[in-house]
Amino acid sequence: MPLVDMHDMLHHAHRNGYAVGGFDLVGLDFLEAIVEAGERCRSPLVLSLAESHFEHFDFGIAMAATEYAAQRATVPVAIHLDHGASPASALRAVNLGCNGVMVDASHRPFAENVALTRQVVEMARGCGVAVEGELGYVAGVEGEDAAKHPGEVVYTAPDEAARFAEETGVDCLAVSIGTVHGRMKGTPRLDFERLAAINEAVGRPLVIHGGTGLSDDDFRRLIAHGTAKINYFTALADAAGACIRDHAQRAPEAGYTGLHHGVRTAIAAEVERCMRLWGSAGRADEVLAECRPWRPVEHVIFYNVKGIGDDQVEAMAARGREVLATIPGVRRVYTGRAVQHGAQYRFSWVVRFAHENVIATYRDHPEHVAFADDWFRPVAGDRVTIDFSGIDQVGAPGDGAGAR
Ligand code: 13P
Repeated sequence: MPLVDMHDMLHHAHRNGYAVGGFDLVGLDFLEAIVEAGERCRSPLVLSLAESHFEHFDFGIAMAATEYAAQRATVPVAIHLDHGASPASALRAVNLGCNGVMVDASHRPFAENVALTRQVVEMARGCGVAVEGELGYVAGVEGEDAAKHPGEVVYTAPDEAARFAEETGVDCLAVSIGTVHGRMKGTPRLDFERLAAINEAVGRPLVIHGGTGLSDDDFRRLIAHGTAKINYFTALADAAGACIRDHAQRAPEAGYTGLHHGVRTAIAAEVERCMRLWGSAGRADEVLAECRPWRPVEHVIFYNVKGIGDDQVEAMAARGREVLATIPGVRRVYTGRAVQHGAQYRFSWVVRFAHENVIATYRDHPEHVAFADDWFRPVAGDRVTIDFSGIDQVGAPGDGAGAR
């Protein structure tokens, strides 16, 4: 249940002078470690899945596990697509359960970045999903040496940042003030004055990418100037890597589980260190009390048909499952037939919406309108339709991270 609205979560951090970690995960060890650390120090957290990492895991399978872990957590969690490559990536992420999405068009000219980001914001608004845009360019690649990817850092200009936020309507903005993705050589030179000016001009939560390698003092100053989310990956991957290398040296015959022993603990320790340093530790209960919970809606229809046989009902349902699942915010389309013979209604649709906003998006979407008018309504006059907002109980009581 503790999935919370990401817009609210980041605004809470921005208002209260702390930053939430956007921790990229590339497997179950990462997922479990991040949630475990959050529960240990009662911190809100963002579970981030970066599109550039999709070559390492199946996004759909990872999302199922991530959503389950988030629902079972006792601290507030948001699930975010990090560095989405296109509006289609953002749509896929929303329909798989992300309640925050980033589409990174920061390498494009300003006007194109605005147009692409605005397109994503329009889709996401209709689904209640928060959007992160990026202006300026943060070089490097997560998990690698920044020196290997020496792309030019492009600093964010405060006046452009204000225009970008206004014209796109993003919920939070990633900015470039001297950080790089991946391992840094030497001491980073961060432009805090620029960050302060951006914060003043933009007036909404700022995001810093490339958290690895910054000093405690850097983090404090970033947060003092409006940073409400810090993206962090390489240091977690390095902690995991060090642990595996250590096992490989001590026990060269070790297999997969032997090599991975302790990886989760090593990642969790680093995540917890960040949560305490960034001030998010101890904020979980406030966030749960003050931020809107993230709840799906079940759009339920019971119906009987007239004018077609039962075999034609399945053809109609198959068509519906195919087209309706592509509408933004539709998580799942379930079509059913009554088990009991004498049931008052013989057939059902249960369409899961990501969020209450999807009720209107779905109703007015051309694919839905066409399907309803051409296929469904002419034969299903006898029907009842109700939208239910609810809570999914996942796992047995006590089956949470604390129980491990
Ligand atoms: P680091 O890998 O440098 O921590 O950066 C992570 C990041 O910014 C992900 O978006």
